Amino acid sequence: MTVLAWCRDVSVVYGRGDAEVRALAGVDFEAREGETVALLGRSGSGKTTLLHVLGGLVEPSSGVVERTSRASYVFQSANLLPHFTAFENVAFAQNVSHRGGRVHLGPEELLELVGLSHRLDQLPGELSGGEAQRVAIARALAQETRLLLCDEPTGHLDSDTSARVLSLLEELQRELGFGLVVATHDPSVASRLEREVELHDGRIAREAVEA
Ligand SMILES: Nc1ncnc2c1ncn2[C@@H]1O[C@H](COP(=O)(O)OP(=O)(O)OP(=O)(O)O)[C@@H](O)[C@H]1O
Ligand SMILES: [Mg+2]
Repeated sequence: MTVLAWCRDVSVVYGRGDAEVRALAGVDFEAREGETVALLGRSGSGKTTLLHVLGGLVEPSSGVVERTSRASYVFQSANLLPHFTAFENVAFAQNVSHRGGRVHLGPEELLELVGLSHRLDQLPGELSGGEAQRVAIARALAQETRLLLCDEPTGHLDSDTSARVLSLLEELQRELGFGLVVATHDPSVASRLEREVELHDGRIAREAVEA
């Protein structure tokens, strides 16, 4: 299986002196094509930091990280551009991203894929939380990504909507074959993904593969 991003013995230290926080301490991790992973661990255990290292948003203080392909993000709140419609939010991501990935769908097709053909012209303020999160997923896929890094993508959604957004992610993942890493507090989200990696104080405390 192709490795999309990996890190070896990665530590991340934020701040200095008395304010120093060791967010990751010697983490080894691999994200592989076609695989779904849940990153678990209580608040402050380092989940977001690990996603940021994998996506290249944070440089490790020590250790090695390498990406072999493009990664995109889905955040806890959709973070859409407020003055642009659903269509424009997706189209914008596509325009600023490189070509040459494996997803060759236009904004309309991507929004159709996430079940929002009827919401193309709506502004983010006119969308429900679940709809906004689906636009964020379409936007992430518009970047022709092979690795989707999701930071508590259903954290602000009710349990029904959260289940629907997750099913959508799984369906897209099966169809498009990208690697999926989801940081979550929610055991019901984690149990739907193939591999579980649990962080504790910046270290990997447990790894399990779903039967
Ligand atoms: N920019 C920063 N500056 C200083 N410390 C930080 C910064 N970002 C995170 N931290 C600290 O690093 C540790 C790990 O944070 P991180 O955000 O990775 O945890 P998390 O597992 O994602 O938590 P949560 O479940 O609450 O989102 C925490 O102790 C946090 O306070
Ligand atoms: Mg976090």
